[in-house]
Amino acid sequence: MRISLFFLTFISILFIGCKSDKLTMATAANFAPFEYVSGGKFQGIDIDIATIIANELKKELVIQDMEFDSVVQAVSSNNADIGLSGLTVNETRKQVVDFSDTYFSAAQMVIIKSDDKRFKNLKTKDEVIKAINEIKDLKIGVQAGTTGEFYSKGDQNWGFEGFKNAKTISFANGAMAIAAMINNQLDIVIIDEMPARVLVKTNSGTSLLDIALTDEEYAIAVSKGNSELLDSINSILNKMKQDGRMQEIINKYYSK
Ligand code: ARG
Repeated sequence: MRISLFFLTFISILFIGCKSDKLTMATAANFAPFEYVSGGKFQGIDIDIATIIANELKKELVIQDMEFDSVVQAVSSNNADIGLSGLTVNETRKQVVDFSDTYFSAAQMVIIKSDDKRFKNLKTKDEVIKAINEIKDLKIGVQAGTTGEFYSKGDQNWGFEGFKNAKTISFANGAMAIAAMINNQLDIVIIDEMPARVLVKTNSGTSLLDIALTDEEYAIAVSKGNSELLDSINSILNKMKQDGRMQEIINKYYSK
């Protein structure tokens, strides 16, 4: 009798240990409209997507807020089940995590000070790149570990040449970079389009160069080989795209 009770307890502990009732999400909640904290609560497009995924999987969503450059590693080291953080799919990241189907198209964009005459009347990506390259000692602010940083500094794996004449300075988040630009410590900020639009709206004296510099897709990261979770996520994402819930979430957080 004693032995079998012990045995049962042992088995149930094992079972609970394997099939967790929680879905842990690694994110950097400093990236409105995708993830941010407002009124003491996590909000944003990615938070709503994760909430639906967790519901469908009948799990409790647990959000782990961290620096952006730790998100991929949290997933690859199995410290989080999913990475959902406006995360751009990229070959370098694919070496350490698997990505779901994509759910949003994005691009890097430039934020300038509204009174900066040097970037007026630019129409194309090439004109923007040329303008940046022609200015000596330009200071560019980016968010650490993001596409924007690789794009500005240059990175072979990402296929970005970088701005050789400029100095790229990394910040923990876009808001800090914008604050530094307003303080004249930076000339421009390079960041993802939607966050750029939010930042420009909320910081007077800043303007967006509405020209896409890159072509990116956001997706959800899971640990390598976790095809069971990946398949479930893909079918939930697919359903959300079909029945309009995805668009509804995006509209809820962003209207141009
Ligand atoms: N899309 C860019 C990247 O993957 C930036 C994402 C930043 N996300 C965030 N939550 N701060 O590198």
